[in-house]
Amino acid sequence: MGYCGNIRVVLRKAWIVFSKEAAGGKFEGHNPHVQVLHLSENIMPRPDSTQYPSVRAPHSPLTDYYRNEEERRSWVGNIFNRTAVDYDRIESILGLGSGSWYRRQALSRAGLVPGMKVVDVGVGTGLVARQAALLVGNPADVTGVDPSSGMLQNAQVPDGVQLVTGSAEHIPFPDQSFDFLSMGYALRHISDLSVAFAEFHRVLKPGGRLCILEITCPERTLPKLLLKAYLKGVVPGLAKLASKSTDTSLLWRYYWDTIEACAKPANVIATLENAGFGQVDRYVELGIFSEYRATKTQ
Ligand SMILES: C[S@@+](CC[C@H](N)C(=O)[O-])C[C@H]1O[C@@H](n2cnc3c(N)ncnc32)[C@H](O)[C@@H]1O
Repeated sequence: MGYCGNIRVVLRKAWIVFSKEAAGGKFEGHNPHVQVLHLSENIMPRPDSTQYPSVRAPHSPLTDYYRNEEERRSWVGNIFNRTAVDYDRIESILGLGSGSWYRRQALSRAGLVPGMKVVDVGVGTGLVARQAALLVGNPADVTGVDPSSGMLQNAQVPDGVQLVTGSAEHIPFPDQSFDFLSMGYALRHISDLSVAFAEFHRVLKPGGRLCILEITCPERTLPKLLLKAYLKGVVPGLAKLASKSTDTSLLWRYYWDTIEACAKPANVIATLENAGFGQVDRYVELGIFSEYRATKTQ
């Protein structure tokens, strides 16, 4: 087993211990590569919508990195462009089990089935889009949208998947173009969630489904500290050793800071509802992997 393989084994063992603490459920090994913790109830109770307003920015400016929204957009664009070459490698070593198998399960749980036309927003190097193509059966039914030219250039998707420059706030397609919209781990990088969710609603057909994947900061102190140590300490350290770009380590430190600062799940749900979505819920794996699902009901 090589260097990367050893790292994976050690991290997987640490991750299993963390997950037990984070969610207090029981384990069932049903995939040789991923240990999934089955909670008795993965769908979170509905938040009291009177207490949680909808939000615009997913977090306030993180002044260790930039001073305001304008600088944030440019900083985020540049760092994804510069680190795109490392993204898949680092994600596969350190992705906390949020790899291809997990993404496919989440899409399937959210209702993605063969024949649907899918748009994957924040497609990056194609980690979600590849799984969507497998589920729908025809890669030509999948379109990926991303503002980063670097990520799109490094994308590895099956022939037929269309990759287009755009953003969550501006999806360059007509109204009612898609049956299913996915977005993996890009929510924290959007300028305005209210604008983005209205755009998601616009491009979906009536009855269309939405699935947003995101890491949620644990509420409990110990899991939060462990996750922070892992994402802000271990991951950037290992990224320094295993990446081509010197910025990859910085990206992963920033990753944790955005998770910690991000709007609460109840606010994300309220924002989806105010954008016109119905049947909004949040399915959670391992206490931190949130899957926001919704339907365009009108
Ligand atoms: C952490 S990567 C996620 C890539 C991929 N979806 C995955 O599951 O691994 C975040 C992606 O969001 C993109 N992004 C940044 N700002 C965005 C925006 N306003 N709208 C859509 N995508 C954005 C970045 O360029 C980057 O490719």
